[in-house]
Amino acid sequence: MLKRKLCRCHSLRLLLLVLILSFLVFSVLKINQKPDHLNHRHLYLTGEDPASHINCTKILHGDTEEIQKVKLEMLSVSFKQRRKLTANDYINITTDCTSFIRMRKYIMEPLSKEEAEFPIAYSIVVYHKIDMFERLLRSIYTPQNYYCIHVDKKSPESYLAAVKGIASCFDNVFIASQMESVVYASWSRVQADLNCMKDLYRRNTKWKYLINLCGMDFPIKTNEEIVEKLKALKGENSLETEKMPPNKEVRWKKHYEIVDGKVKNMGVDKKLPPLSTPIFSGSAYFVVSRRFVEYVLENSKILKFIEWAKDTYSPDEYLWATIQRIPEVPGAVSSSNKYDVSDMNALARFVKWQYFEGDVFNGAPYPPCHGIHVRSVCVFGVGDLNGMLRKHHFFANKFDTDVDPFAIQCLEEYLRDKALYQHKN
Ligand SMILES: *[C@@H]1O[C@H](CO)[C@@H](O)[C@H](O)[C@H]1NC(C)=O
Ligand SMILES: *[C@@H]1O[C@H](CO)[C@@H](O)[C@H](O)[C@H]1NC(C)=O
Repeated sequence: MLKRKLCRCHSLRLLLLVLILSFLVFSVLKINQKPDHLNHRHLYLTGEDPASHINCTKILHGDTEEIQKVKLEMLSVSFKQRRKLTANDYINITTDCTSFIRMRKYIMEPLSKEEAEFPIAYSIVVYHKIDMFERLLRSIYTPQNYYCIHVDKKSPESYLAAVKGIASCFDNVFIASQMESVVYASWSRVQADLNCMKDLYRRNTKWKYLINLCGMDFPIKTNEEIVEKLKALKGENSLETEKMPPNKEVRWKKHYEIVDGKVKNMGVDKKLPPLSTPIFSGSAYFVVSRRFVEYVLENSKILKFIEWAKDTYSPDEYLWATIQRIPEVPGAVSSSNKYDVSDMNALARFVKWQYFEGDVFNGAPYPPCHGIHVRSVCVFGVGDLNGMLRKHHFFANKFDTDVDPFAIQCLEEYLRDKALYQHKN
């Protein structure tokens, strides 16, 4: 009898112990579990995921078999019939912002104190492919940054409405107050960025750096990595700025006008630029400090230079490059050729130009393009990712969901995983 009683008591204690233990295990598991909306395995809306059977880990390691698998996959019927979100879809789903943010799994809190204290401003110039824009925004979105979106005046009404819908879901995303009709190689491309610069500058005094983007850019660094590198710049800017090749001088030595939607050389000489600094060659993309932006918007010498540049060909490809070499500009470098910075050495953008592709073991700056070429620029395929991720650049150009959606998806997964699960602090 006594023995049986002892036994029951013992088993009760055992039961209690098991209960306590399982509660502890459960709590630990619960703590380690990320909220569902931050789980990178669920980036996509139902039925949207085009690559559930493509292994991005292998792709990012440059696995040739997996890269080949993607190429075959893109020829399949089911791939060609895949559903992409349209402008009307976005107009629809952004009517309920809470559900949009949850469904699209935006990260709605700063991931570190360091990032929270170092806001970045973005000027994003877009005109089509709404899904590309939204995925770009999602991949760079953090609540402490500021995003100005310039939508081309020529874009369809539904496109603008979709961008407005997306912007309406975030306090720190807004549409430029002034919109341009952007004509290729004309001044309007620069004006679009200037409009956003002004808006961002007036809107908030906290941001430290400005980065400009277009709809075909995609990040190859996390916000944390970008912040770290921006801090290391210590107020300097990072953009391409090199000696002007003689064959491009005609672009600013002659007067140009827009005729039938194209920028045309009118055969009339222009006055020399109102600067003692020579004109440098570069790209439309920059990483510049807030003080640089202030100077560009307010300094009379720069404003005169801007006024002078308005009737030239592709001013975006020399304006920023030249301002960066005027000694009194904040964060600028000397005009001595020792300070020339190539696109590969600037942080702003990784681009594969067709005529520089080749054998890297034989002096080429990068291997051949795995996607297609548009105006001599590579539109990346999954096979380009492995090499690209070893570059120091913040963003790469060009990506297109119509050329290779897997390239974008694998980048999204990579960045999300890195941002959420591979924190240094
Ligand atoms: C993807 O490939 C990696 C590396 O080969 C492997 O470790 C991983 O288990 C694979 N993932 C899936 C879901 O098959
Ligand atoms: C949005 O889409 C849902 C699902 O397709 C549909 O039921 C709903 O009527 C749409 N709402 C609007 C405002 O178009």
